[in-house]
Amino acid sequence: MDDKKKEGRYSRIYKQLKDLLTLTKDPLARMASVCAVLHHKMDYFFWTGFYLLKDGKLVVGPYQGPVACQELEKDKGVCWAAVNSGAPVLVADVHAFPDHISCDSRSLSEITLPVYDDQGHIVAVFDVDSDQKNAFTQVDQGALSEIMALIFSTE
Ligand code: SME
Repeated sequence: MDDKKKEGRYSRIYKQLKDLLTLTKDPLARMASVCAVLHHKMDYFFWTGFYLLKDGKLVVGPYQGPVACQELEKDKGVCWAAVNSGAPVLVADVHAFPDHISCDSRSLSEITLPVYDDQGHIVAVFDVDSDQKNAFTQVDQGALSEIMALIFSTE
């Protein structure tokens, strides 16, 4: 999908999610709804989900797509890279990412974003895999960052 088309789609999704997420403040319910909406509206999203930071571990949370790894080995892979850097990580080709953790061999590219709570602490990672190489751009990064800010929003 080209960036122009992505922008239009993300703008509609953002409005839909903003309304939907006012119906509960529960972060897990919000995460589940974010996965459901994005996964079904973005056809290049092959796996869409959250890993929750619990007792120093990344444990799988709400997700859509094929069955995923239940826990991710500490300080390894793309999700931990987002936690440890505190910033989004874009991987155009997962086979070129040295310690990428493969939960499904069909995943070819990936984007991960840290999720911050209202105290500014990282509590989760949002992870999207695509079955296409080089699927994610700055447009995905920008739009998904705005969506992540809705999870703990009190507005
Ligand atoms: N590839 C991720 C693991 C999670 S799955 O892609 C669902 C990683 O390297 O952290």
